[in-house]
Amino acid sequence: MTIKPLIEALQGKRLKVPPVWLMRQAGRYLPEYRKTRSGARDFLNFCYTPALAVEATLQPIRRFAMDGAIIFSDILVIPDALGQEVAFVEGKGPVLVPLESPESVSGLSLEPMSQHLQPVYEALSAVRGELPPETTLIGFAGAPWTIATYMIEGGSSKDFARAKSWAYGDPNGFARLIDLLVDAISNHLIAQVSAGAEVLQIFDSWAGVLPEAAFRQWTIKPIKEIIARVKAVHPDVPIIGFPNRAGVMYAPFSIETGVDAVSIDASVPLGWAADELQSKVTVQGNLDPIALLTGGSALKNAADTILSGLRNGAHVFNLGHGVLPPTPPDHVAQLVDHLRGAKG
Ligand code: CP3
Repeated sequence: MTIKPLIEALQGKRLKVPPVWLMRQAGRYLPEYRKTRSGARDFLNFCYTPALAVEATLQPIRRFAMDGAIIFSDILVIPDALGQEVAFVEGKGPVLVPLESPESVSGLSLEPMSQHLQPVYEALSAVRGELPPETTLIGFAGAPWTIATYMIEGGSSKDFARAKSWAYGDPNGFARLIDLLVDAISNHLIAQVSAGAEVLQIFDSWAGVLPEAAFRQWTIKPIKEIIARVKAVHPDVPIIGFPNRAGVMYAPFSIETGVDAVSIDASVPLGWAADELQSKVTVQGNLDPIALLTGGSALKNAADTILSGLRNGAHVFNLGHGVLPPTPPDHVAQLVDHLRGAKG
């Protein structure tokens, strides 16, 4: 069997040249993505059409030969599959009909989920057959807290006032929503592995806005439960957690949730990550997406700083957050060439 560098690194192996993939490696910065996207009615329809999702997944692999191929989908397919109205509005991002109160959780149902998300599983199986033998297929889901913020706020938010007020003011009512999401996300991740995903990533994009007690309650605790459920069915699948902007809370997150790897944002100091995180789990990250946008020697220097800061342990090269739409694709090629040409 061919050795897959991404899986080796996630199993804790230090590699001379770390494997690389980028969050949001498929998307609007690629002209071929924009072309494929224009063939779909809307973004969710795009995600639910296996042939289109397969094509978008493979585009960055063809161009850059990334070590990981992340399935083309979105974290908001979960609320959509639970029966909440979700739309993606051009130039505005996601718009959901917001949940009005903890009671409105009872209007959501796990029942139609697996049927609704069947196209995602079909796309995973189809991609698996098309990847080069050394490329690893990555499945993913949003974390309960991050998905809950979109469900309650009705979209992106500046201060998360509605979601936090529910969580702080009625923790038992809020727990009903989080518990439902733990069920939905666990099922979705298990089904993705059954369909062919070899690695999973859990995106907690808004974890960093929570104070310590709430972070433990609504980020660490539900993710720990999800990982236990996934590993009960698929014990060997490596799981990456991304509690974006978690600061020093990356440490208890890495130890307590059961993740195999932690993806760190660009603000995390490398020395601290090497000492406090890499001694326990594989570290993924953490190039500033703006350095990728800038390109040239700024990009090479920033990449070298990360290679050197994380060279004594298991490392997966990635960004601190997703590729930005105005990024020139050529900068991604420069980065990948530099990493593979550089001696560890
Ligand atoms: O290449 C990949 O990374 C795989 C596909 C992927 C998408 N979204 C496609 C997408 C992944 C892994 C995601 C995750 C996601 N989606 C997150 C977590 C990561 C993060 O960025 O913090 C979040 C918070 C979302 C929710 C979401 N989806 C928002 C806020 C938006 C609008 C903002 C934007 O970038 O347009 C989306 C839409 C979206 N998801 C697009 C893509 C390629 C752009 C839609 C389009 O093509 O018009």
